[in-house]
Amino acid sequence: MIRFDDVEVTFGEHRAVSHLNLEIQEGEFFTLLGPSGCGKTTALRALAGFVEPTGGRILIDGRDVTRVPSEKRGVGMVFQNYALFPSMNVRDNIAFGLSVQKVSKADQRRRVNEVADRTGLASSQLDKNVAELSGGQQQRVAIARALALTPSILLLDEPLSNLDAKLRVQLREQLKELQHEVGVTTVYVTHDQEEALTLSDRIAVLDAGTLQQVGTPEEIYDRSATPFVCRFIGENNRLTPAQLVSLGGALDATSESYVRPEKLHLAPVGDTTSAPASFEGSIVDRTYHGSHSVYTVAVEDAALRVSVPAGAAAHQWSPGDAVRVDVDPRWVLQYPAA
Ligand SMILES: Nc1ncnc2c1ncn2[C@@H]1O[C@H](COP(=O)(O)OP(=O)(O)O)[C@@H](O)[C@H]1O
Ligand SMILES: [Mg+2]
Repeated sequence: MIRFDDVEVTFGEHRAVSHLNLEIQEGEFFTLLGPSGCGKTTALRALAGFVEPTGGRILIDGRDVTRVPSEKRGVGMVFQNYALFPSMNVRDNIAFGLSVQKVSKADQRRRVNEVADRTGLASSQLDKNVAELSGGQQQRVAIARALALTPSILLLDEPLSNLDAKLRVQLREQLKELQHEVGVTTVYVTHDQEEALTLSDRIAVLDAGTLQQVGTPEEIYDRSATPFVCRFIGENNRLTPAQLVSLGGALDATSESYVRPEKLHLAPVGDTTSAPASFEGSIVDRTYHGSHSVYTVAVEDAALRVSVPAGAAAHQWSPGDAVRVDVDPRWVLQYPAA
């Protein structure tokens, strides 16, 4: 188990991480998520032992490692740019840490074959130069290199961000499978909310060095704890006071309020099915996304975006059509006005 106990990291006057308290469980896939500059890499580097906290403690399995050198913490790290050695072949890259530790050649060979097998690298690739490999294969080499030292914790800093969109989605799935197979406690850093939602057992959302929320992907998405989390994760509509009033009293019209586009549903005006609450609106626009369409609907004094899955829509709406917009008030996220 990993514990951040009131960890603070300052660079000169700048506080990159403040009062960070986290507990990460054994075997968990845990993600630090937030916009660029929010302190994710700094928190990860503090855990790895590359940055010394200016306050607080970091514990691994109950042991205070705050001042323990990196190589004695049992952590393996994969960097954003992989930091592979371009002049070495795949085998030597994977064996690098082992050779630094003066592990015998025979044991290095055995260990490299083992992790290559586990990370899905074919033995025919081991003698290739890393520069000959695709981005996806290089990423496997970087993970294999980190795993070669049998770390108890694997740290990954935006390992997919240098890859094109399609490969990123593929590797995301493979990474999840790999972590499941290996079972190693993983702390993953990303600014990509979709990546975080699909990969993680739990997510910590950071803003400007401050923890906003820790929870499962569902909790983070459906029950965002702060307006920042709500706006950062997924799409949302901010409801105006006039819209809240027109919903008829189920909600507090003075609160900062949001609802996600797929939580709204369109029905014909005069539809006989009942809904917990609804607005009256008129269609302004529709954009087609293949798997779903997004309708822009004028409601009271502002427009709402409504996401409708392809095939689920019994109606195709056109601009000018009057519609009923149904919403269950429990999907409206409300925060006390600032
Ligand atoms: N070695 C450093 N010296 C000074 N400032 C740094 C250093 N590393 C990071 N920072 C600053 O700390 C903040 C957090 O950086 P970082 O942890 O890299 O954010 P993230 O990984 O979330 O993008 C940023 O404002 C960054 O400029
Ligand atoms: Mg970073």
